[in-house]
Amino acid sequence: MKRKNKNNENKGLSSTAENGKKAAPGRRNFIKRAILFLFGAEAAYLLFDFFSGNKKKNFEPEDLYEVGHAKDFEPGRIYPFTSGKFYIYKFDDGGMIAISYRCTHLGCTINFSEQDDKFICPCHASAFNIKGEVLSPPATRPLDTLPIYIKNGIVKVDINHPKKRKRFERSQLTYG
Ligand code: FES
Repeated sequence: MKRKNKNNENKGLSSTAENGKKAAPGRRNFIKRAILFLFGAEAAYLLFDFFSGNKKKNFEPEDLYEVGHAKDFEPGRIYPFTSGKFYIYKFDDGGMIAISYRCTHLGCTINFSEQDDKFICPCHASAFNIKGEVLSPPATRPLDTLPIYIKNGIVKVDINHPKKRKRFERSQLTYG
């Protein structure tokens, strides 16, 4: 009987050991899954960070003045937006610029002369070319530009953040 018990005990031990061996792969699988999960979470985080980073790059202010579709603007023509107080001009290569109505001398509202193809200030006769550069004093610096955002062809202008500049540069143009 004792032998039987021993055998049984041995059997018990060996079955426990077997169970232990069987349990080991289960633990390994669990650890593998946990590691895979952590890698997956890390990858998801990196992807989220990447795309939210792009969003930041393409960030648009909320309060924008919509002016229409980019394809509706003819190159070489000036478009006044009276309520927004700016002009839009589209260059031959498709680049667009938004120019503020505000004279850089003392702030009067400029007018565009189709006949002379230039902006003229009624207050002290400063004149500016189509790019907003000074042609005649007393103004000494170009007309301010306004940031343009083009998304899905729709052109929007940020009228709250005029940009001062020393000269015209192609980097001031926005392309759709
Ligand atoms: S305010 Fe425009 S020229 Fe003086």
